[in-house]
Amino acid sequence: MKSWFILMLAAVTCFSCGETPQKKESLKIGGTSAKEVTQSNTTVLALSGNDAMQFDKKTLEATAGQPIKLTFRHVGKMEKRIMGHNFVLLKEGTNIVAFANQAAAAGAPTDWIPNEGAEVITHTKMLGGGQSDMITFDAPEPGVYDFICSFPGHSSMMRGQLIVREAAQ
Ligand code: CU
Repeated sequence: MKSWFILMLAAVTCFSCGETPQKKESLKIGGTSAKEVTQSNTTVLALSGNDAMQFDKKTLEATAGQPIKLTFRHVGKMEKRIMGHNFVLLKEGTNIVAFANQAAAAGAPTDWIPNEGAEVITHTKMLGGGQSDMITFDAPEPGVYDFICSFPGHSSMMRGQLIVREAAQ
């Protein structure tokens, strides 16, 4: 009976002996890979607009808090003053029509961003055909965010949504 107990105790001790370094190791690995994930986990997004006043995508997806690198390209040929395109990501609850009207009023001097960007999470420059712009930003909180082109008259056709998912635990 007594030896049986010692044997069990030894087994338990041995088990926890083996467990401890293993735990440490996995923690260390976890920490390292978490860092790598942050660095390599940049969400790379590409969007384009054309001379027919269309974005090539209606939805973009990202994960909350993770960096986003978005390249926006005007794949048309028309000039900026006639067929300018940009990517404007709006804060939740922004009225697209009201914003677009304000953008049109603000005009070229503000690069078509009204109210000093108060309703905007981020935006690219206004582009003409053949131009591109790249922006980096952190994905906002989980939710659905509208994006538009704020060139006058474009937002009725040029709009889409950035869907931000919750980060995996
Ligand atoms: Cu446009």
